[in-house]
Amino acid sequence: MTEPINPPARLLMGPGPINADPRVLRAMSAQLVGQYDPAMTGYMNETMELYRGVFKTRNEATLVVDGTSRAGIEAALVSLLEPGDVVLVPIFGRFGHLLREIAERCQADVRVIEREWGTVFTPAEIEAALIEHKPKLLAVVHGDTSTTVAQPLDELGALAAKHGALLYTDVTASLAGNTFEADAWGIDAVTGGLQKCLAGPSGSAPISLSPRAVEVINSRKSIEAGIRSEGDAVSAQPIRSNYFDLSQILDYWGPKRLNHHTEATSMLYAARECARLLVDEGMENAVERHRMHGTAMLEGVKALGLKVFGDPAVRMNNVVGVHIPDGIDGDAARATMLNDYGIEIGTSFGPLAGKVWRIGTMGYNARRDTVLTTLAVLEQVLRRGGVPVTAGSGVGAALDSYE
Ligand SMILES: Cc1ncc(COP(=O)(O)O)c(C=O)c1O
Repeated sequence: MTEPINPPARLLMGPGPINADPRVLRAMSAQLVGQYDPAMTGYMNETMELYRGVFKTRNEATLVVDGTSRAGIEAALVSLLEPGDVVLVPIFGRFGHLLREIAERCQADVRVIEREWGTVFTPAEIEAALIEHKPKLLAVVHGDTSTTVAQPLDELGALAAKHGALLYTDVTASLAGNTFEADAWGIDAVTGGLQKCLAGPSGSAPISLSPRAVEVINSRKSIEAGIRSEGDAVSAQPIRSNYFDLSQILDYWGPKRLNHHTEATSMLYAARECARLLVDEGMENAVERHRMHGTAMLEGVKALGLKVFGDPAVRMNNVVGVHIPDGIDGDAARATMLNDYGIEIGTSFGPLAGKVWRIGTMGYNARRDTVLTTLAVLEQVLRRGGVPVTAGSGVGAALDSYE
């Protein structure tokens, strides 16, 4: 016989997932209702309005896609791109490579520009590539969790529009921890996830689409046989995924309530509660909370003698990368933190694997107690690994930062 689920107590201080806010977990444990129950459609409408507040947009087409963050990415790209469409992907980390990979599977004509991990592009570099490649879509990650830095987006919407492109961005790692303004920045499509600064579990991908993006998506609308009425759209070039066909998903979330998937009710409860908590706190306050605790963590790791990875001018508030000191086995140290103290910090991918740890302060875990505890434990682990550390230096620097 297996036992009921009873996970070990963990403090998740990596790059996500993090511990969910207990209020989100409580919302998820609420009983189900039918998918067309007025209570359910009411929750769906409230969720749309709440995410308009989170994304800072008036876009009617603001909803959640069922699935983890990459479901949102895949829905946006497969719905916006037709085979052969040119898409420009500036890559500065692992998740830029993911955008390229998904766009290639959409059979788009993918053009990339690349920067060294830990750096970002200048607007001029992106404009030069827009002029050279004339894409239909510019697809760029905002905060790339793999490198801890965020591509500034505020000028890119105007540049994309000037050169006739739509702008898509993935804000999974950055949303709510760093300023994001969908409308003010001219973003046409944006997707996120719950498991980082939104303080929820992975499994739901908030998305917002500008009227221009909706027009492009609906130009290929094809309503499934079986639910189609006379006069309904049947495209010769339908969107190449049924599950992620945003033209149909929009009809499910819109006044038509045309049947598509069965909305993942418990995840909807979670997504709604994540957004409700943020809108209640105020998005500016949430960003400021992440900035304050992220800065305390940054000052703490620096005081422990750790060298910070990435361009500090564009560092995300909610995650810091540090070079693993010489003589320390990064994975063994992480295992000690997990097994002896119940604290998880992150490893890294690709060129940074084995060289950089990533420490997050996000969502429910962007708190003073979590920052101080993590720094105190890190000090012990470094010291036992033979790294000379001044006693109390990390915690002391964090406390100074709070003061
Ligand atoms: C920036 C970014 N994009 C996409 C993803 C993929 O998210 P998921 O694992 O929820 O599909 C992640 C996950 O860490 C991420 O950080």
